[in-house]
Amino acid sequence: MKRLILCGGIVLIISLILVKFNSSKNNVCKTFGDYYTNRDQNENCYYNPDGELTTPEVIKRWGYPVETHTVLTEDGYILTLFRIHFGKKHSVKESKQPVLLQHGYKSNSKCFVAIGKKSLGFILADNGYDVWLGNFRGSIYSRNHSRIKDTDEEFWNFSFHEMGVYDTAAQIDYINKLTNKKLIYIGFSMGTTVGTIYATTYPEISENKVKIFIHLAPFVFADGMVAPTRLLLNLWPYAAPIGQALTGGQFYPEPYSDINKAMWKFFCNPFPIQIFICTFIDLCMFGFDYEQADPETLTVAVLPLVDTVSIKTASHIAQFVILEKFQQFDYGRDGNLKKYGLIEPPLYDLSKVRVPMHLIRSDNDFVWNREVLFLFTRESKAIRDLRSKA
Ligand SMILES: *[C@@H]1O[C@H](CO)[C@@H](O)[C@H](O)[C@H]1NC(C)=O
Ligand SMILES: *[C@@H]1O[C@H](CO)[C@@H](O)[C@H](O)[C@H]1NC(C)=O
Repeated sequence: MKRLILCGGIVLIISLILVKFNSSKNNVCKTFGDYYTNRDQNENCYYNPDGELTTPEVIKRWGYPVETHTVLTEDGYILTLFRIHFGKKHSVKESKQPVLLQHGYKSNSKCFVAIGKKSLGFILADNGYDVWLGNFRGSIYSRNHSRIKDTDEEFWNFSFHEMGVYDTAAQIDYINKLTNKKLIYIGFSMGTTVGTIYATTYPEISENKVKIFIHLAPFVFADGMVAPTRLLLNLWPYAAPIGQALTGGQFYPEPYSDINKAMWKFFCNPFPIQIFICTFIDLCMFGFDYEQADPETLTVAVLPLVDTVSIKTASHIAQFVILEKFQQFDYGRDGNLKKYGLIEPPLYDLSKVRVPMHLIRSDNDFVWNREVLFLFTRESKAIRDLRSKA
């Protein structure tokens, strides 16, 4: 905790000093060194608008076609799916393999197109895939409902459980009907939790509709988390009721809101040292890779991706870490009895997974757990082997 407060203090002081020295229009440069020059006169620097643009605007700006599709979930949420039907080298006439990309916690579909030509969404489109970008309930593109408003507390009464059971089910059904093909599911972080919940909830359906799951930075068991994160998440249950009362269940800030933009500009721009300090809390909690930091995209790709989610989602994540169980939301004894007819919430049964799952993680990811991850992969492989013999 002390370390985090110290991080925050350093960010604030350095930002105050540095922000005075910069008012250039150009917000990205080709090298980190160029950032410290007069950027408006340096030909290595230019203005990159991606941070302020929406997902479809970014896709268009990079020269790709974009379609917007709307999906209604069984419980009334209206979700937006974006589609990049073909890349620069391919045409729409070819029959393509659909891929569904599912974003992580407090984010949205923009994370898959936010780093220019190196974005996964564009690479897949250029390699002949039919790319679908999901937006979970609560994110800026999925805040409508057939019956309730996003200002109602009831709207925010969900966690990633509902994203798996309702959102993913509706999105996959929709893509499946339209393309008549099994899809490839690629999840990032919470997108992997959601995909796994979908696969354990609907074993037969997922077998018919999904070819493989590719999980990037898988988050199913989180007992390998580092101490500062663990501490914060242990404190979360005390903070959550206050947040709930103040915001009606919505976990701010909203993307594109003035406060988010101001925070971004103030803390993380305009010098790379600030970006590194800005990502320092990330570094403390999740791990960080300086070699992956790209001077031309880092300044526009990180903070503007922050999106809203429900307080309940954060609570469910905290439960994963505190209780060390891959299980449904814990409402406490009485609440569980009312909701599930059980004292403890039901576990998500990994032995039900029928579709192959590929787990990909990086060495310096602080969140994953080596032992359990191996167990999980071995288990599902064992189950696959059994099935192929049957
Ligand atoms: C939500 O509904 C409003 C009003 O019907 C509409 O203007 C808006 O575009 C919708 N937003 C999304 C993300 O579907
Ligand atoms: C949220 O859902 C739970 C369980 O379904 C229910 O007990 C609770 O009353 C709901 N809360 C709101 C604010 O709708």
